[in-house]
Amino acid sequence: MTQSELYPLGLRIAGRKVVVIGGGKVGTRRVHGLLAAGASVTLISLETTADLADLAAEGSITWHQRGFESGDLAGAWLVQTATGVAEVDAAVTQEAEAHQIISVNAAEAEKSTAWVPAVARFDGVTVAAFGGGDPRRGMALRDAIQDQLTEGKLPTAAVRKAQEKLAGTVALVGGGPGAEDLITVRGQRLLYAADVVVTDRLGPRALLQHLHPGVEVIDVGKGPSNHPVPQDQINQILVDQAKLGKRVVRLKGGDPYVFGRGGEELDFCVANGVEVEVVPGVSSAIAVPALAGIPVTHRGVSTSFTVITGHIAVSEITGGRDHTVVILMGVASLAESAANLAAGSRGADCPIAIIEDGYGQGQRITRSTLGDVAKVAAEIGVKAPAVIVIGDVVNERNKEEESNE
Ligand SMILES: C[S@@+](CC[C@H](N)C(=O)[O-])C[C@H]1O[C@@H](n2cnc3c(N)ncnc32)[C@H](O)[C@@H]1O
Repeated sequence: MTQSELYPLGLRIAGRKVVVIGGGKVGTRRVHGLLAAGASVTLISLETTADLADLAAEGSITWHQRGFESGDLAGAWLVQTATGVAEVDAAVTQEAEAHQIISVNAAEAEKSTAWVPAVARFDGVTVAAFGGGDPRRGMALRDAIQDQLTEGKLPTAAVRKAQEKLAGTVALVGGGPGAEDLITVRGQRLLYAADVVVTDRLGPRALLQHLHPGVEVIDVGKGPSNHPVPQDQINQILVDQAKLGKRVVRLKGGDPYVFGRGGEELDFCVANGVEVEVVPGVSSAIAVPALAGIPVTHRGVSTSFTVITGHIAVSEITGGRDHTVVILMGVASLAESAANLAAGSRGADCPIAIIEDGYGQGQRITRSTLGDVAKVAAEIGVKAPAVIVIGDVVNERNKEEESNE
């Protein structure tokens, strides 16, 4: 079979029997792909990878622990052979041919009646790439297409018929702490497939420039004591847009459920009959300290941490310096929080760090102690947004760097 003879088809294999001969690396990859498509997989192999053994043990596939025997393909729609032994693969392919069963032979593409393409997927669209007998060429092409799909550079918007009124949806997407590439792949896919994006002040706003021109962006961004769009109106916008049949993405900074009011937005949508997906995000509570080389836990230094809002000054928090405290929205109340915590078991010389505008133009890291921080912060004019970290972990990286010198 040459490339020009290929007749591309998308197989709907759910619930249909597929026989896989050979439980090595190739067999494992194929089994996962087949299971994702809902196939009923029978594996024939003397040995398997641990992964396939687990799938067999949990009942996701049927495993016959033996070599291939004539008759094994009975009832199959498709067979994949990847035993690593050319004669066995050839025998399987021959038997498949005799019974008019489509077969994929990992050892010899020319003996296969079907080839497996490299596949890119995006928002219900599937693109299959064949490399003309050169699988790496197909994969390279697939990777380039996948990137462009994910970045919204290809026309994937659904073409809907006028009478086809689709139900709108809302996705609460955690965009991470602001860097363009700290959003999850799932979040980015949903963002680029959206009809409407409802966005915040924090979060990866630079991604908005990649949206299709037809996408409506509604900016409901809030400042520290400046709430341009009240929360109940944001909730209503989400529901109203979804009820127009639109795919709405609520792009939020960090994680939707960490001081993100994601729970309220979810409740309101659900109460109004709107389907919601929540996509977790990288929270500034952990990622922004990491920018300053501060791990919120560190073996032998800190085994736990508290994330707390500084909306109202933080008072006593149990634990000593080995219990890290991370304060969000705490710039205005910093002096009072530091004094309260210094008066407790942490003491005035407990280390503290303030990381302002993490990943942004104004990123700045300041280290001090609970006793001195109010003065230092006032002198340098610390501004929101900032993450404040308190505990011995603050100096952990410094110590390591010093000992390496
Ligand atoms: C309303 S909370 C939202 C937190 C968000 N849901 C998260 O998981 O990161 C906003 C606060 O998060 C912190 N924050 C968020 N992004 C930040 C960044 N890039 N740099 C510094 N602080 C940030 C600040 O304390 C800010 O006042």
